[in-house]
Amino acid sequence: MDFMELVAKRHSVRKYAAKPVEKEILDMILEAGRIAPTASNRQPLRITVVQSSEGLLKIKKAAKIFDAPLALIVSADHEQIWRRSYDGKGTGDIDASIVTTYMMFRAVELGLGTVWICHFEPSVLKAEFDLPDNLEPVNILVAGYAAVDDEPNPRHFERKELDKLVRYE
Ligand SMILES: Cc1cc2nc3c(=O)[nH]c(=O)nc-3n(C[C@H](O)[C@H](O)[C@H](O)COP(=O)(O)O)c2cc1C
Repeated sequence: MDFMELVAKRHSVRKYAAKPVEKEILDMILEAGRIAPTASNRQPLRITVVQSSEGLLKIKKAAKIFDAPLALIVSADHEQIWRRSYDGKGTGDIDASIVTTYMMFRAVELGLGTVWICHFEPSVLKAEFDLPDNLEPVNILVAGYAAVDDEPNPRHFERKELDKLVRYE
């Protein structure tokens, strides 16, 4: 599948089949995250794989994950992130998001559905998964095989025209 086909194929999946994600597929998804670029190549990340029924119950205390069989919590390590010298801005959110993006597209390429979750309660997530203070959960990537009756949400088709987003100076 070429890249634009993959991009066009992806939509947020919020209805999953009750089929676990195989270990080989999970490993391929994680590998895509491993090789993603990060600022100054610091790789300041921790990916928490949640697949067990116990883990999925814990994550459900913090976020709605649509009964998916797999969730990847992508956390930024504030002790390792790169900071811009001019204003101290840290790139933890950016690094975590590019890693999440790589894994999301790899998952879609491998035939899975995904939905990116930021609507979670960080303190609950940190407590449930014993994340130390230096780790900030940034994204949850939920993944699994889409249910046969999965349909994209209408919002998937609502994108602004390029002229609303782009300015040529
Ligand atoms: C940073 C980010 C955070 C998101 N958080 C949530 C979320 O918490 N819950 C949810 O159901 N969808 C979430 N989404 C999915 C968006 O709602 C979805 O991508 C958007 O509506 C466009 O639809 P599409 O992904 O089907 O193209 C998030 C997406 C992004 C990129």
